[in-house]
This record gives sequence, C-alpha cells and structure tokens, in this order.
Amino acid sequence: MRKIAIMGAMPEEIAPILTYLGEYTTTEYAGNTYYEAIYKGTSLVVAYSKIGKVFSTLTAATMIEHFGCEVLLFSGVAGGINPRLKIGDLIVATKLAQHDLDITVFGHPMGFVPGGSVFIETDSELITLAKEVAMELGKSVQEGIIATGDQFVHNEAVKAAIVSNFKADALEMEGGSVAVACNALNIPFFILRAISDTADTDASFSFDEFMESSAVISAEFVMKMVDKLVH
Ligand code: ADE
Repeated sequence: MRKIAIMGAMPEEIAPILTYLGEYTTTEYAGNTYYEAIYKGTSLVVAYSKIGKVFSTLTAATMIEHFGCEVLLFSGVAGGINPRLKIGDLIVATKLAQHDLDITVFGHPMGFVPGGSVFIETDSELITLAKEVAMELGKSVQEGIIATGDQFVHNEAVKAAIVSNFKADALEMEGGSVAVACNALNIPFFILRAISDTADTDASFSFDEFMESSAVISAEFVMKMVDKLVH
C-alpha cells in the first residue's frame, strides 16, 4: 500500500486527524513536526505546514521527497465565494490556481508564469473516492475550483476579481501551492476544505467562530477516505 501524506496548514486542521492514529512518532524536520504512524497496516505521515504558499510547498515537498509519501490528502478550511457554499459545507477541488501570481504586465493571464499553468488539476480517482465516501455517509460534497493566495480575503472587490479571473468557488492559502509541488513530483493529490467564512467583511469573525468546527468536518471526511485507501 502507498504511504499516505495527510497535511493541513494549521494545528487545528490536523489535531482531529491525530486522534485517529493511536501511537505515533514525531520527527522535527525543516522547521515542522511530522507525525508518523501505521494506521490499519498503512504508513501515514501527518503534518501542518503553517499558513501560506511557501510553507505549504515546503511541507508537501518534504512529505514526498524526505518521508517518501506517494499520495497526498490535504484537509482544512476555506473561504466560500460561490453563494451555494455555506459555513461547514465541504468542497473538493477539481483544479487550483494561484490567484496572486501576477505578471500580467507582460501580457500573461493572472496565475500564469512561463513553464507553469494557470490551473493544476487534482487526481480524478481521489475525487471519485470522495464521491463514494460522500454517498456512503449521506453527505454532500461539492466539487469546485479553489483559488490560493498569500492573503486572508475579507473584501468583496478582491472576491469579485478572483471570481472573474478564475471562476473560483472557494479560496484559501495553501492548496494551489501544494498542487504545484505534487504535480511537479508526480504525486496524486486531493484538496478538501470545509467552509469557515465567506471572505467578506465579517470573514475574520466567522473564521474565528467556525474554523475549528469546520476543520473537524474536513478531517473526519478525509479519514473516511483514508479508511477506503488502506483497504
Ligand atoms: N481560509 C479560510 N478563509 C479564508 C479567507 N477568507 N481567505 C483566505 N484563506 C482562507
């Protein structure tokens, strides 16, 4: 069975996952703690990266290159921008972009640099698995586009620009960079987020209120996927 990486950005995003592991060991590496366990016969490596594109790229690459993970699942929270996404709803990314990557002055579209692509698609088999898990649990999981950038968005104008540039349904600060690392290293990956706020002027208050409960919703779903992957 493939060694599985499960990552989040914040401690609250992986704390619920650690409760499933039973015994685990911890290793400090490149400024982060990596939790390793054998879960139902399969090796898991769990870590939170710290917030943002740089830290999340480092952690994803470390889990793959240093710890030898062969598939990566990300669990966490996001700001909803599609009005169909309410607090606590789950969104699975079909593809991700970096909404703040801007060399448009040279005639390139937002999110594009030469040698890269605006969007990176997630693994279709993992999305299929997520749909199976959702069916079995009787839960609704929406598929959509996630935009990633190094800012906590709390402003209608910024949201509108991200929708117009990327048709994004949700936004957060790590998925697009994890996608870059996994894509470059040829590792199938999956990005799941539960909505904590709607990236409007009240976003910071909503985030403070719902981040922990939404992180649990996402983590519990990811662990159901892990249960399927390890069988
Ligand atoms: N993660 C959760 N909510 C967010 C927001 N409003 N902006 C960026 N990342 C988020």
